[in-house]
Amino acid sequence: MKFASTTCAALLGAATAVIAQQQPEDQSDWVRGAYIVELDSNESPDVFYAQLAHDHGIEAEHRMHLASSNLFHGVSFQVHNASTHDRSDLLTAVKTKAQVRAVWPVRTVRLNVGTPARHDMPAPASSGARGVHQRRDAANETSDTFSPHLMTQIDKLHAKGVTGKGFRIAIVDSGIDWHHPALGGCFGPGCLIETGWDLVGDDYSPPGLPKPDSDPYDNCVGHGTHVAGTIAAQLQDNEYGFTGAAPGAKLAAYRAWGCPAKATTDVLISAFIKAFEDGNDIISCSDGLLSGWSDDAWGLVSSRIAAAGVPVVIAAGNDGGAGIFQASSPAGAHGVTGVGAVQNAVFPVFVAEGEYGVSQQQSGGGAANHGTTSSTSYGFLAGTPAFPREMKLSLWAGMGNNTTSIEDACSSLPDDTPDLSDKLVLLRVPDSQKTRCYPIDQGENIAAKGGKYMAYIVRSNVTFEEQYIYVDGIEGVISVAPFQGAQWIDALNKGMDVTVTVPGANATATILMELEDHITGGFTGDFSSWGPTWDLLPKPQLTAPGGKILSTYPLPLGGYRIMTGTSMACPLVAGALALIGEARGSLKDTNLIDRLISATAEPKIWFDGTKTYPGTLAPVSQQGAGIIQAYDAAFTKTILGVESLSLKDTEHFAGEHTFSIENTGDQEATYVLGRMKTQTMYTLQPGMASPIKAVYPNPIVDAWGELRFDADSVVVPAGGSANVTVTVTAPQGNNVNATLLPVYSGYISVNSTRDDEHLVIPYLGVAGAMRSVHILQASSSYLADFGTPAEAGRAYTLPPPDPADLPFLNNPNKDPIHIPDEGKTPNMLLQPVLGTRALYVDVVSDDNGDSNGKKTPTGRPCRGALAGYPQTYVSKSEQRAFFQGMLADGTVLPAGTYRVVASALRVFGDEAREEDWDVVETVPFVVLYNGAAKPTAAA
Ligand SMILES: *[C@@H]1O[C@H](CO)[C@@H](O)[C@H](O)[C@H]1NC(C)=O
Ligand SMILES: *[C@@H]1O[C@H](CO)[C@@H](O)[C@H](O)[C@H]1NC(C)=O
Ligand SMILES: *[C@@H]1O[C@H](CO)[C@@H](O)[C@H](O)[C@H]1NC(C)=O
Ligand SMILES: *[C@@H]1O[C@H](CO)[C@@H](O)[C@H](O)[C@H]1NC(C)=O
Ligand SMILES: *[C@@H]1O[C@H](CO)[C@@H](O)[C@H](O)[C@H]1NC(C)=O
Ligand SMILES: *[C@@H]1O[C@H](CO)[C@@H](O)[C@H](O)[C@H]1NC(C)=O
Repeated sequence: MKFASTTCAALLGAATAVIAQQQPEDQSDWVRGAYIVELDSNESPDVFYAQLAHDHGIEAEHRMHLASSNLFHGVSFQVHNASTHDRSDLLTAVKTKAQVRAVWPVRTVRLNVGTPARHDMPAPASSGARGVHQRRDAANETSDTFSPHLMTQIDKLHAKGVTGKGFRIAIVDSGIDWHHPALGGCFGPGCLIETGWDLVGDDYSPPGLPKPDSDPYDNCVGHGTHVAGTIAAQLQDNEYGFTGAAPGAKLAAYRAWGCPAKATTDVLISAFIKAFEDGNDIISCSDGLLSGWSDDAWGLVSSRIAAAGVPVVIAAGNDGGAGIFQASSPAGAHGVTGVGAVQNAVFPVFVAEGEYGVSQQQSGGGAANHGTTSSTSYGFLAGTPAFPREMKLSLWAGMGNNTTSIEDACSSLPDDTPDLSDKLVLLRVPDSQKTRCYPIDQGENIAAKGGKYMAYIVRSNVTFEEQYIYVDGIEGVISVAPFQGAQWIDALNKGMDVTVTVPGANATATILMELEDHITGGFTGDFSSWGPTWDLLPKPQLTAPGGKILSTYPLPLGGYRIMTGTSMACPLVAGALALIGEARGSLKDTNLIDRLISATAEPKIWFDGTKTYPGTLAPVSQQGAGIIQAYDAAFTKTILGVESLSLKDTEHFAGEHTFSIENTGDQEATYVLGRMKTQTMYTLQPGMASPIKAVYPNPIVDAWGELRFDADSVVVPAGGSANVTVTVTAPQGNNVNATLLPVYSGYISVNSTRDDEHLVIPYLGVAGAMRSVHILQASSSYLADFGTPAEAGRAYTLPPPDPADLPFLNNPNKDPIHIPDEGKTPNMLLQPVLGTRALYVDVVSDDNGDSNGKKTPTGRPCRGALAGYPQTYVSKSEQRAFFQGMLADGTVLPAGTYRVVASALRVFGDEAREEDWDVVETVPFVVLYNGAAKPTAAA
């Protein structure tokens, strides 16, 4: 899961560090006054701190060493007296130090584990309900039938005995419940979880300091335990009969999130560096930050680790709803394997178990009237109200036998309906959208005939969930799967009686039911975040099953859980890499590994969440190369020289690429070149007066880029290599509107005639100029009264600002506690159309008060930056800049008339060029303070 939809990117904030101590529960996305610096040398950071104090009066309190022998030498620190500096001043001061290579603000990174539905977990052991478990069908030592493995060829590698032996995978997450029997039940040498470290302690919540210890045990969050099971769950002592992708690999657990599930970028960098230094072979981390820029601190360290021979596998994020251009960091970093998610082909559900019997009807007469079959087990979900105690009821399906009906019992039942009080009434879930009939209507109609007990047949395998009926007289509700309902109706149609026993809540066993998902199964999940990055790096790299994944969970939290997210796809790929490493002997050439998994992945057709588009593949920006095919990646005899092609935008167009095709087989091979189409999609919404960003599914443009190869096919001798040049033409035509930034993509297909090798090279470009788009528009970024523009000259009366209590800073997580009243506080609604590397929000006085030398990025005199700004590496998410009477540096603004001016640097823009900045200002507004006199001209 992870990836709460955080908005803003790194804040350059420091001015408010003092306050950080006073508001430990601050929910904002950055840690006030905390910075990461990369230093040039191995000198002691004390020298650097002493210089900051001596030269600038900045007192830096050391937070963490971020040091790796080869990759990175740096520290993070906390500034306590920065109220005399605004954040850009502080950053400038830090950057002037000779030994500083780069500086970044520390950001908070949350882990969002969601709230499990009841059917996502087995009944807790404490309820006394457990005891009977059903293993997955046919699971055994020799045959892997776990659906995520069948979808990714991991089963084929397991069948060859390839299990990831000799590789150790580092999991940077919430820790692991190593007591779990399916995860080996111990921690330390000789155990599955061989090593690890707790970087934060149970209670870590920024801005406090982490309290590391040596035990990465997780009994409170669960995310890391789920990830661990996906990588390496053991069959032995596994109640549900599945294994991880690499059950032969070892694990190392780096706990970066304590029980509050909040980490910081310095903790994560430290965890990655430790995982690297400890000699792990792969790093898997299922989290990230929304930004869309590939070069922030965490991304940079990740890229260097990957370049140093340790694959770094990162979840792409769960912001699919935001459409194209919603990459995160570090998944979006160079050389990092960003993983999107497809839906599992099966839909697993934890159900309760009951029994039913079928017999000839009494009225049928004859000799067979006592022919009750032996009782058969069935699975159900207890709804609300749940059955108060065990009941044995005769099934009644008077609504008819139409298994696709959408309006059973939606009107009063006929007069000849029998008394239903001792019946289990079988009916279908209504299609409320079409019929305006709701379960409550059905409950009322059934209760009117004395009915008390209802059994719903859900409408499809993927909507198997509990029903809630709040109707007087209804005393028990269950749901059953479509196939079960069909069996019962079939029996009733044949004139049989069906007697169903529904156990009371306490007697309920927990069994796992695996339904087939022929609706969304195998397609990229609508939740899976889209790339590319703003600098047009094709992202994600590929996908793996992540929707509806069964794995281990901490024993105190239930032991097993079904979860959905790119967090679940990422560890499957990490496990697959261990298998590929075992099969090929090494993973050290990470670039080669990236090329192999990309070339052999299987692109899926486009599914827009509702319907499929046969003949057109899903865009590269959604699925990368497609779903990983681990066996082919391990054993392909053909190696392509590139992973993917970035064609950039029209301003930086790179249409010609040469790549090599290497034949490592022992026979000559002919490779036929071709192209597979994907949907071209607009970044911005067509038909609008000014640019508005489109959301998932982005509008389709009926146009494709054209490809030309210098040869239709090439013959490559055994052990040889050939070069192919491809020339791509961006989509053109009257229907292609370049100003809406059409993102086009596709796959070069490289099909070997030798054996069954079908390789792909994803390509992606933008048929417009990123820099031409105005990121900010006056029509969508303005002085706001909630969602609409406020009138010019509006007066706001604010509480007098307290310099000792710096204002709320733009809160990307919409924490209600810290958000000022949008109706009573001047605020600028900012709806950037694209991301920006730099976003300034400054205050301009209409009372001639801008004489302190401060300027906006385009040189306009201003009072200074609003608290929370400037920001760097900003995503396209909406944000709100609040004016609370104080600037970022703590200056209190007198009552008066002001405007807020926002300046955003365009994508590929140059800070020094005025025309590369989009500047939008609010209408003037009047600020008064409680108890203060009329506005006076500012000093
Ligand atoms: C285990 O899997 C193999 C291979 O699919 C199959 O032949 C065998 O019947 C299975 N055994 C059990 C006990 O399910
Ligand atoms: C079954 O119900 C569906 C939906 O109400 C309806 O379209 C269909 O015609 C019905 N079939 C029969 C055989 O009545
Ligand atoms: C459905 O029920 C009707 C009577 O209500 C019966 O004539 C018909 O055969 C049943 N359909 C099936 C498939 O059994
Ligand atoms: C079910 O179990 C709970 C907890 O053990 C108990 O309090 C409750 O009385 C039980 N209910 C029934 C109907 O047995
Ligand atoms: C639902 O799942 C069941 C059990 O796996 C399967 O037999 C059935 O074909 C599935 N139905 C659909 C419509 O996919
Ligand atoms: C392919 O191109 C590369 C780089 O230009 C060159 O070094 C190599 O010799 C070429 N290979 C063949 C087979 O032409």
